[in-house]
Amino acid sequence: MKALFAGPQPDSFAFTKENLAKADAIIKKYPEGRQQSAVMPLLHLAQKQNDNWLPRAAMDYVANMLGMPKVRVYEVATFYTMYNLAPVGTYHVQVCTTTPCWLRGSDQIVEACEKHLGVGLGETTADGKFTLCEVECLGACVNAPMVQIDTKNSSEYYEDLTAESMTKILTDLAAGKTPKAGPQSGRHTSEPAAAKNAANDG
Ligand code: FES
Repeated sequence: MKALFAGPQPDSFAFTKENLAKADAIIKKYPEGRQQSAVMPLLHLAQKQNDNWLPRAAMDYVANMLGMPKVRVYEVATFYTMYNLAPVGTYHVQVCTTTPCWLRGSDQIVEACEKHLGVGLGETTADGKFTLCEVECLGACVNAPMVQIDTKNSSEYYEDLTAESMTKILTDLAAGKTPKAGPQSGRHTSEPAAAKNAANDG
């Protein structure tokens, strides 16, 4: 289980007017008496508003909004890795290390990130730009190995990685560039690698 309420916490949290309207619309999707089912999208909305991490005040705010015990919200927030319970860097680099990615070289991807960024898993670079962590399967096994990189306003998959392409992505991000998301091998989506080679030969 993830550490709860780590680091400095803001005293309060409230949705902006715009996000309050979004939250109301989300809650209305659920039948009467089932509004608590909106807890996950509301936590996600709160996290996006709060620089991509979820302070205790935001969890309490969502609990009050949905009329549910705070501890039930804490249980949800600590269970799923997509909720960040402490501040993260501008770029949140999440390396999938589950079996298919591991078989395709995720160890080398983690190593390339650690070497290039100078931090270990669960750590943030001194300039606050990058946080590195490992996650379970992100559903892109057919393009393993892969990482998801989140910012405050975006969430991208980078796939078919090698240590070299991973390092280039990190270098480009640090330089303020926007590397192309998706497969880095040159193949289109998840077409067979043989098809790419045949196309190149032709
Ligand atoms: S195992 Fe990495 S995306 Fe599925």
